[in-house]
Amino acid sequence: MRFEELVRPTVSHIKEYVPGKSIEEIAKKYGLAPEKIIKLGSNENPLGPSPFAVAAIKEKAGKVNIYPPSDAFELKRAISLYTGYPAGNIVVSGNGMDGILDTVMRIFMSPSAEAIIPIPTFSYYEIATLANGGKPVFVTRGKDFGINAGDILDKVNNNTKLVFICSPNNPSGNILNEEEARKILESVNAIVFIDEAYADFSGTSLIGLVKEYDNLIVGRTFSKAFGLAGMRMGYAVVPEWISREYMKTMTPFSMGVLSLAAGIAALNDREHLNKSIETVKKGRIQLGRGLDGLCKVYPSEANFILIDVSPRTAAEVSESLLKKGIIVRDCTSFRGAGNSLIRITVGTEEQNRKVIGAMVSIL
Ligand SMILES: Cc1ncc(COP(=O)(O)O)c(C=O)c1O
Repeated sequence: MRFEELVRPTVSHIKEYVPGKSIEEIAKKYGLAPEKIIKLGSNENPLGPSPFAVAAIKEKAGKVNIYPPSDAFELKRAISLYTGYPAGNIVVSGNGMDGILDTVMRIFMSPSAEAIIPIPTFSYYEIATLANGGKPVFVTRGKDFGINAGDILDKVNNNTKLVFICSPNNPSGNILNEEEARKILESVNAIVFIDEAYADFSGTSLIGLVKEYDNLIVGRTFSKAFGLAGMRMGYAVVPEWISREYMKTMTPFSMGVLSLAAGIAALNDREHLNKSIETVKKGRIQLGRGLDGLCKVYPSEANFILIDVSPRTAAEVSESLLKKGIIVRDCTSFRGAGNSLIRITVGTEEQNRKVIGAMVSIL
């Protein structure tokens, strides 16, 4: 027997997630010194983690022989202060928001059920739907990647279980407005998952709607504004009934001892958080002004900007940037994105200046 035949057919058809490129990979490929490489391909925090989070990790390092508290209560209490929701409305994952998405899928997705996904967007919604036997149903976003509730509702049927909306959207950076969100929430017999991985940078959030709608989940992450991508921590604000289902289906002790300590310290360090957000807000303007006239720059509410380099291709322009030691995200692998979009993470002022300089010489 070929054991490969045991793989569920739905899994064997999944196209692997294409991650942003790593410094090690690019250093090796182009013979560059790793410390000279600027990594702006994965929307990480250029200021690094909060020093208090680093100290908390060091302090707890000798305690990792013991399982963490399974209810992550102290972290939930800290998230509660940040979001204004009681701990009973908060769920967490020790595998980033990706882990939240996986558990949500385990609760709701079933063979022949459908998930609506407006594209181009973060590709893990599609992968997680397929991996759980479901069917992704794509809706093409409108002008400048906006979402029209009517386009989504046209695709809803009795099999629709989930609607994914990323806001601010990766890779386009625009947000879902409240009116469209309400129209969708009120018209579907399905769970609406609003992915707010980048909402800390936008100054607006739809998190307040969880109080009003029993079918809304708002996903968040520690990977971006909190600078803890390497710790792999995510959380979501959910109605209480979903929290109960979540606790039954999540992997036990999902959030590790070091992550719990780091997350609480990061949430308490508002100074670092505010500095990270300010750096992004200034950097977005700097990049926007510097690239204006060279290519189309989309307005962004996130910690990245999207540019259109047509008539050049994203592949050739990102390759030229890589040769200069600048890692950006060629969006060609995003379903529905075409072949001329590049996503650039907002860096420090100096990193942004280098990106602009490199783009001037390339374009
Ligand atoms: C829109 C969006 N959602 C979720 C994630 C996953 O975040 P995490 O690192 O918390 O798994 C990312 C990561 O880049 C993202 O861009």
